[in-house]
Amino acid sequence: MTTKYPNLTAAQESLFLTLAGRALDSRLPRPFLGDVTSDRTISELEYDPSVFRILSTDLRDPRNKVFELAVRAKRLDEIVRRFVARQPEAVVLDLGAGLDNRMHRIGTPSDVDWYDVDFPEVVALRQQVLPQPANAHPVGVDLRTDHRWLDEVPSDRPAVIVADGLVPFLSQTDLVMLLGRLTRHFPCGELAFNGYTPLAVWAIKHLRIAGSLDVEAAVNPGFFNPYEPERWGVGLRLVEEIAIARAPEVADLPPVTRLVHRVAGRISPVSRLVATVVLRYRFPRGNGGGER
Ligand SMILES: C[S@@+](CC[C@H](N)C(=O)[O-])C[C@H]1O[C@@H](n2cnc3c(N)ncnc32)[C@H](O)[C@@H]1O
Repeated sequence: MTTKYPNLTAAQESLFLTLAGRALDSRLPRPFLGDVTSDRTISELEYDPSVFRILSTDLRDPRNKVFELAVRAKRLDEIVRRFVARQPEAVVLDLGAGLDNRMHRIGTPSDVDWYDVDFPEVVALRQQVLPQPANAHPVGVDLRTDHRWLDEVPSDRPAVIVADGLVPFLSQTDLVMLLGRLTRHFPCGELAFNGYTPLAVWAIKHLRIAGSLDVEAAVNPGFFNPYEPERWGVGLRLVEEIAIARAPEVADLPPVTRLVHRVAGRISPVSRLVATVVLRYRFPRGNGGGER
């Protein structure tokens, strides 16, 4: 049997976990996100989502399986949508974009320049399966080692930078260096990503929730306190911690998980343990430290 996608490393293959989560969400009677393009993409590539135990187990209600993946994507979409509505000349960077079609999902205005950044193999696949409008700029690089790509990105416009699912794959040094380069590049902007607590990283490695993924690919230690990135010396100021445990979509979960999220959502530290958080930071140019 021939596969419709190339051999990918564990970090690259993780894109199918988030893609499958959005695809399965779109098949629910009342989807949280409703991204039918992700379903079409994964079907076109004939990828079998059951390799991810977290998505395939019969022990969990389908809503529980996709809730976090779908709702965190939805919150990140909202952050980008609001930013480009306020700043129509903005630049958007989606770091570790995988096969996500966020640009189309949010109905991006044509004046916005959008950069989907991922490994060259992944970007090549994106170009095969997702439409590429004129203001889309796919960038195929290893974010740990390739620094020149930013030279091609306008540095005189505000930027909104999102990273959905990328953080575990960057060492702390690589992550801080990358963020420093980004916050120095743009005059100002916002950065938003889903956070990973040390417990979440431990779970990825030891509970093998992502099934076939090589757990060694998760190298970031994670952090618990959403203010911690303010101490990385890259000019970030926390604007908002969005706890998915408190999301309005919790109302559509089955009774037991709804109750668990509602109870956990009352106490911030506990809400971070029960479900992911989306963190939004603001930065002005010039505050960043680290090397270029
Ligand atoms: C969990 S997936 C998320 C993909 C996408 N954001 C989504 O929500 O579907 C993580 C992505 O980060 C990318 N990635 C990990 N390390 C990277 C690196 N060093 N440089 C570029 N991309 C990287 C992987 O290739 C993968 O596409």
